[in-house]
Amino acid sequence: MHVVMKEIEVLHNVPIPTWFGVGGAADSLVRPRNEDDVRRALLMDADARVLGDGANLLVDDDGVRELVIDLKGSALKGVEIERSTGRVIAQAGADLPRLILEVVRAGLSGLEGLGGIPATVGGAAVMNAGGAFGQIADVVVAVEGYERTGSRFRRERGEVPYSYRHSGLHGLILTRVELQLTPADPKVLRDRLKEVMAYKKSSQPMADHSAGCCFKNPTLPRDLSTRDGAAIGKAGSRISAGMLIDMAGCKGLRIRGAEVSFRHGNFLVAHEGARARDVIELMDEVARRVRETFGVELEREVVVWRRVSR
Ligand code: EPU
Repeated sequence: MHVVMKEIEVLHNVPIPTWFGVGGAADSLVRPRNEDDVRRALLMDADARVLGDGANLLVDDDGVRELVIDLKGSALKGVEIERSTGRVIAQAGADLPRLILEVVRAGLSGLEGLGGIPATVGGAAVMNAGGAFGQIADVVVAVEGYERTGSRFRRERGEVPYSYRHSGLHGLILTRVELQLTPADPKVLRDRLKEVMAYKKSSQPMADHSAGCCFKNPTLPRDLSTRDGAAIGKAGSRISAGMLIDMAGCKGLRIRGAEVSFRHGNFLVAHEGARARDVIELMDEVARRVRETFGVELEREVVVWRRVSR
């Protein structure tokens, strides 16, 4: 018998969960039960927004009007791990930290450097999540999903213009990501993962409400030094935005409920009762101070969703 799936259920006025723990609701939201539901959602609203783990997202206090496709709350969490070849196929809503644990246990190398990064696999592939210990682009072999017209696409790694925290995939809706990992000793991988997590625990406020690093690490347009002439970095090098924010004296800077972490300058923390606009104002103020002190323009890494009228 041919079973026809019922129409996808649209929920209204749903709070959007983000790691900042602040911000408004979605006027409407869907939780896909399968990949075809993503296509249906796009046919309802071609401007739909995609919610991953909400780990690098700030939603303004007014929330958003466009349909939100909730990957984290969807059923798109399947993961296939082929131990012998190292090939992994993950659906876009699969949890990255959980996948990292599974592949480390299976003795597959390539994701252990991404320990401590909260994300869905789809979100990580679109943002090119990573840090000093690796980036997901290094193991992606293909991505699949839907274009906004609802037609299916597949892009091989060579067709994705990956660079630092960039994929060029933002306009597309991923439903699965294919990774190529390398067989290795699980014990070595476990130790490496522990090391990465320990480094982050010691240098980042992991327990606070934040979106991790707020700004991308900038590439210096010219040699940079402190007022007393000590070298900070050479022209063309990428340096830590957190270090610049720190050196510009921003640690502890507070606007109402939002504060620059004392532990890492690139982490903006939302305290109890904070509003999204507190965080937005603080981001602007931090960028202004860094521009004034060093003449360096910081670019946001955190994605900000704002209500736009159609
Ligand atoms: N530093 C300071 N003050 C600070 C922060 C950093 O002096 O407030 C110094 C550190 O002491 C260190 C250097 O700056 O000597 C680099 O710091 P860190 O190792 O923390 O690296 P980062 O460049 O600031 C990047 C990623 C992080 C990632 C870490 C570790 C970006 C924007 N940030 O930070 O990613 O966790 O490396 O791999 O690329 C994120 O993207 O959300 C994120 C947290």
